[in-house]
Amino acid sequence: TTNHRIALIPGDGIGAEVVPTAQQVLDVLGRRHGFSLSYTSYDWSCERYLQEGAMMPADGIDQLRDKDAILLGAVGYPGVPDHVSLWGLLIPIRRSFRQYVNLRPIRVFEGIDSPVRGARPGAVDMVVVRENAEGEYSEIGGRLNQGTSEELAVQESVFTRAGVTRIADYAFSLAARRRGKLTSATKSNGIIHTMPFWDELIAERAAEHPGVTWDQEHIDALAAKFVLAPARFDVVVASNLFGDILSDLAAAVAGSIGIAPAANLNPERDFPSMFEPVHGSAPDIAGQGIANPLGAIWSAAMMLDHLGHPAAARDITDAIASVLAKTDTRTPDLGGTATTAEFTDKLIELL
Ligand code: NAD
Ligand code: IPM
Ligand code: MN
Repeated sequence: TTNHRIALIPGDGIGAEVVPTAQQVLDVLGRRHGFSLSYTSYDWSCERYLQEGAMMPADGIDQLRDKDAILLGAVGYPGVPDHVSLWGLLIPIRRSFRQYVNLRPIRVFEGIDSPVRGARPGAVDMVVVRENAEGEYSEIGGRLNQGTSEELAVQESVFTRAGVTRIADYAFSLAARRRGKLTSATKSNGIIHTMPFWDELIAERAAEHPGVTWDQEHIDALAAKFVLAPARFDVVVASNLFGDILSDLAAAVAGSIGIAPAANLNPERDFPSMFEPVHGSAPDIAGQGIANPLGAIWSAAMMLDHLGHPAAARDITDAIASVLAKTDTRTPDLGGTATTAEFTDKLIELL
């Protein structure tokens, strides 16, 4: 049987609660579909930072290099500034391993009572393709005149021809394999250097993908349309920050940000890709055992798909659909009273 080497980074808060549930689900599928997963667990977290002064060891990235995939919970916790924890662990992994595609699918499942009126189960099925390596997330900038009345902060965005072209090509190809529709998130009316460049490059790549119908929307109007007409969207391509915001919004439309998965992909496969729920460490509910594990479990399905087990991945998404359609077991974020463990047991029963 094929063995896959998986790096587990449970991380902080509910990250450490949901990663083990994904692992439980993965192990059932390995037995059924004839593959095995060997795990190496890393305690890299804010707790480690507070004890040892670093989120991960100096050779942390090298320790992950030979793995087939990385499964991560969440990073960041009160007590450590977010820019320190995230730029000390999550962002370096995404960048070192050239995971420039962040795929964030969302569906409104049968049995979900969406807070959005028009979001009927089955009708909403979209993917946010988030640029994951450049854009608004840059280290260029700084702070000046601290503590004076002349104080200021500057943060530069960086968009490269190569970076926008590759994310556009990925998104157009994905749209071609789906319903053939792509929307580009822009803000070229207000952000007058980078966003017109983004628009030009998207249009340039569109010409190479004639089978895909595409349009562009300003991010503000697009946010409104996610709520007013979410069924309209198939693939949405967005810069790093816009994609970050749109993916939480899309998850909320689907009922809870606890559902949404993410795949940080290195499409060339010269480095491991990383799979993680879209949500964070949720300090407000951490330690109570009530986190929704679906985001982590769906992320594990995306990992299996990436590792070449699409049938096993489908088993997981089918079980997610079943547990929501056929039972009323739900964690509190979806209006239920089940714990993370109870909900996971129910899902595994249906697997
Ligand atoms: P968050 O996603 O952690 O929480 C936002 C809200 O959603 C909270 O009310 C939380 O209880 C709820 N929620 C999130 N996931 C849930 C789940 N699985 N089940 C039920 N409810 C859930 O976002 P935040 O509060 O902005 O961030 C908290 C910390 O997590 C910060 O340190 C932030 O930087 C970090 N963060 C990390 C990641 C990551 O590692 N990829 C992603 C987002 C935020
Ligand atoms: C996400 C998170 C991260 C991001 C933060 C924690 C840096 O919000 O993965 O969506 O913005 O990429
Ligand atoms: Mn986010």
